[in-house]
Amino acid sequence: MIMNTNALFNIGYGLYVLTTRHGDIDNGCIVNTVMQVTSSPLQIAVSVNRNNYTHDLIKESGVFNVSMLTTETPMFVFEHFGFQSGRTVNKFATCEAEHRAVNQVLYIPKYTNSYLACRVVRTIDFDTHTMFIAEIMDAQVLSDKASLTYDYYQQHIKPKPQADAIKSGKRCWVCKVCGYVYEGDFLPDDIECPLCKHGKEEFEEMIVEACSPSVPFTTGRNKSAECELNYNTTYLLNNMKQIQLTENIFYVGVNDRHTDLFENHMELPNGVSYNSYLIVDEKVALIDPVEANFLEDYLFKVKSVLQGRKVDYLIINHDEPDHSSTVAAVLREYPEVQVVGNAKTFAPLEAFYGPIENKKVVAEGETLSLGTHTLQFFMVPMVHWPESMVTYEQNSKIVFSNDAFGGFGALNGGIFDDQVNLAFYEDDMRRYYANIVGRVAMQALKAIEKLGGLEIKMIAPSHGLVWRSNLDWVLGKYTQWSKQESEEGVVIVYGSMHGNTARMAEIVARGAAEAGIKEVKVYDVAKTEVSFIMSDIWKYKGVIIGACAHYANMFPNMTLLVHEINEFKPKDKCYATFGGMSWSGGGVKTLAKYAEEGKWNLVAESVEVKGAPIREEDWDKLYNLGKAVAEAVKG
Ligand code: FEO
Repeated sequence: MIMNTNALFNIGYGLYVLTTRHGDIDNGCIVNTVMQVTSSPLQIAVSVNRNNYTHDLIKESGVFNVSMLTTETPMFVFEHFGFQSGRTVNKFATCEAEHRAVNQVLYIPKYTNSYLACRVVRTIDFDTHTMFIAEIMDAQVLSDKASLTYDYYQQHIKPKPQADAIKSGKRCWVCKVCGYVYEGDFLPDDIECPLCKHGKEEFEEMIVEACSPSVPFTTGRNKSAECELNYNTTYLLNNMKQIQLTENIFYVGVNDRHTDLFENHMELPNGVSYNSYLIVDEKVALIDPVEANFLEDYLFKVKSVLQGRKVDYLIINHDEPDHSSTVAAVLREYPEVQVVGNAKTFAPLEAFYGPIENKKVVAEGETLSLGTHTLQFFMVPMVHWPESMVTYEQNSKIVFSNDAFGGFGALNGGIFDDQVNLAFYEDDMRRYYANIVGRVAMQALKAIEKLGGLEIKMIAPSHGLVWRSNLDWVLGKYTQWSKQESEEGVVIVYGSMHGNTARMAEIVARGAAEAGIKEVKVYDVAKTEVSFIMSDIWKYKGVIIGACAHYANMFPNMTLLVHEINEFKPKDKCYATFGGMSWSGGGVKTLAKYAEEGKWNLVAESVEVKGAPIREEDWDKLYNLGKAVAEAVKG
């Protein structure tokens, strides 16, 4: 029997206004996924779509209210909280009186029978939603009216013409402002939307597909991306502004500002972009898809460019799931697409996503004609995985370089290098390089040399900026980082349980600074995520590691850093180590073991201090250690 997901509509959902306040911003939206999860302590769970502005504000503020709607709720409440985004509209601008709960968040006093004031105690991340688990700070009953269920809303509140029209497959006209659907062969000149009161200029014809309508607001319901696209395409696809690299080459990438950790271990304070490109010629080529959480936006962008045309080739420059995890969805959308990769591409790709029938294996330097555009493929193994390759388009002279020349940082409006302040992106680029490409710096250098034989007008990576005006700058940076040409400076990283090794780090830093080093960076390894420290280690020539003892070993958090140093092997550094002991010792001894394994260039004898650095001889040793590294750095 075929699964009928309509069964999910029969779950006994209620409908609620979820409100929050972050800073001076109040916002709210409609949700249907609220449930009590424990009674002692009193806790509820609510699931919120990650694209929702309320979601982002709750993440920041950690507080929210749930106002429970009643059967008397008019449609405009849903239009107000569900049909528009708080990113563009202040939904509380016209509030006549403020009703704030104990957490200072507004609740909705009208058309509701109760509210809960909540504080988030835990979050659970799903692909498209975040579930907030919250303790109830206060709860109040406002009226004795019956609670609104999702079913009651569907039957008695939601305008009927919309649902009927979508089911009927008849000619329909949709209001772009609120989603109201008018059914009829012609759209009257004097039509006025009964929901939002906009006129004919806001209506567009909608081709109705045979699928269920989307819920007109964001909820925890697992909606079908396919149906969502069918519902939206006809009036949104035609109006979407395209980002073009050339007349026929389009940027169709997405920004990720939700993910906390890249590869689940590197922090993303500025987000990251997953870039993808579409070449539209006699044949259509889609170059490197995007991360699966952004499937809906991504397919929408692709479709808005193609206007009904199909994708002929899907180029896979790299198998890693931050690019490839939408491959299966692209194949479902375009079943006749031919997947293009090299001899090493398909084994991992099929291991991730199952068999791929229509594939094309290309070799080094092989070409593929799209019409006026010709793709040429060059292997760049280990930048970042063994199958990594780049695609060069001969007509436009654009290199689609995948991970190479990429960087962290979502694209804040500017897609191209000449639209942004490069200094803003440089640290994020170097951190990306040091923690992803740096492990294979020599291969990266070879890749740069290989591309040196091509005439290049643009470099279009799969993360970060598209380079069209500052090619020398980005090539220079990548060459410098690949050759490991470090700058004058000293990175001091310490792990300290009770502050004594931290005090030692301060003395070491004084020694380095007074020896004339102006760039001295001091990090507590328990506070700063390791990818940031690795980025500075890649940048600067001097590296001093300090670890206190933890039983007979070293401070646990330091283990990850020294593992990364030995894994990535930053070269030509001037190292030294120090640390504290109380009863066992072990911090400095363990560091020495790692230094020996990793063949660190130790330029000073290690210093181990018993207790705190309060004796003059200890102070001198630590100071001189910093000074010795500084002098080695200065050469
Ligand atoms: Fe951006 Fe190695 O994937």
